[in-house]
Amino acid sequence: MSYESPRSSRIIGTGRYFPEKVLTNFDLEKMVETTDEWIVTRTGIRERRIAAPDEACSDLAFAASRRALEMAGVAAADLDGIIMGTVTGDMQFPATATLVQDRLGATNAAALDLSAACSGFIYGVGMAHGLIASGQMERVLVIGAETLSKFVDWSDRATCVLFGDGAGAAVLEGCPMGEGVLATHMKSDGSLADLLCIPGGGSRQPFDAHTIPDRLQYIKMKGDGVFKWAVRAMADAARAALDSAGRSIDEVRLVIPHQANIRIIDAVVERLEVPHDKVFVNLDRYGNTSSATIPAAYDEVVRAGTLAPGDLVLFTGFGGGFTWGSVLLKHATRV
Ligand code: ACO
Repeated sequence: MSYESPRSSRIIGTGRYFPEKVLTNFDLEKMVETTDEWIVTRTGIRERRIAAPDEACSDLAFAASRRALEMAGVAAADLDGIIMGTVTGDMQFPATATLVQDRLGATNAAALDLSAACSGFIYGVGMAHGLIASGQMERVLVIGAETLSKFVDWSDRATCVLFGDGAGAAVLEGCPMGEGVLATHMKSDGSLADLLCIPGGGSRQPFDAHTIPDRLQYIKMKGDGVFKWAVRAMADAARAALDSAGRSIDEVRLVIPHQANIRIIDAVVERLEVPHDKVFVNLDRYGNTSSATIPAAYDEVVRAGTLAPGDLVLFTGFGGGFTWGSVLLKHATRV
């Protein structure tokens, strides 16, 4: 939706963090029955980062957030809120965002986790924008951070080749209408929950003697169903944000799609009729890091200095739930 409020919000700082350990497709060849060739042609992924055994989701989120705050020139104590998209938090509760709040010293901030899988960052920007536009908050840190490697079944070749660990963060603050975020779009369809989920450990199937032998603590995915929905959802979401802001795809300087699979991205690009050089891709180096893909990609672009203030940037993504959405914004971040 677009907003009638006289206030908008803009991203004034970004940050990303990836763990040091690189796991290549050739490493995976030694772990499951697969090949580099299969993975590259079916997904576009060549390598991904894996968190150390003692590295948790809040560690990745903290590192990315600190960089975002530094770029924004905002002290942690000046944050009013921290919204963290994650499905692989440190614990079932408390919210991982509160652990990040403590480490940052964000003593005046509300902190909460947002469970929208790979749409977590887009939903987070939508929520933060609403809070800022309505005058309830002035500065909000939005994080997408995941340690998917701890929830991947490393004996399941259909899923273990896809995912990686990482974090991205962005600081949003209030700005005049017409600047910063121009439109947000968020949708869901829970009838598709079974296509992508971690079935064990919740109140439906609490951990018991069967959970571990049945491998219910790991990600389960019906890849072909996810694929079809992903293409439609990301293309529809991108168009919805553009329509709501009265803009055309030709005016967009850069599209940053959720980085799940190069074939999904290519199909979305075809539907949107956007040139490939206007679409950012880094999944070959990081795989699918769920809620982290879009903020980490945006940070990479911002720090490369290729965007000018006022350039239109379009985020579009989808994730388990299903959830999907988009954000259209005027670039405002200066490195
Ligand atoms: N190496 C070798 N062979 C494999 C592997 C592998 N890693 N994984 C599966 N195969 C086999 C399958 O077993 C199957 O064999 P069979 O024909 O003997 O049964 C064969 O390859 C073909 O499988 P398909 O499912 O037809 O392969 P497809 O071309 O659909 O690609 C993939 C599979 C890559 C998973 C694709 O469906 C996909 O990308 N789906 C979307 C996944 C995704 O993006 N998930 C996350 C999105 S949501 C989020 O980001 C949290």
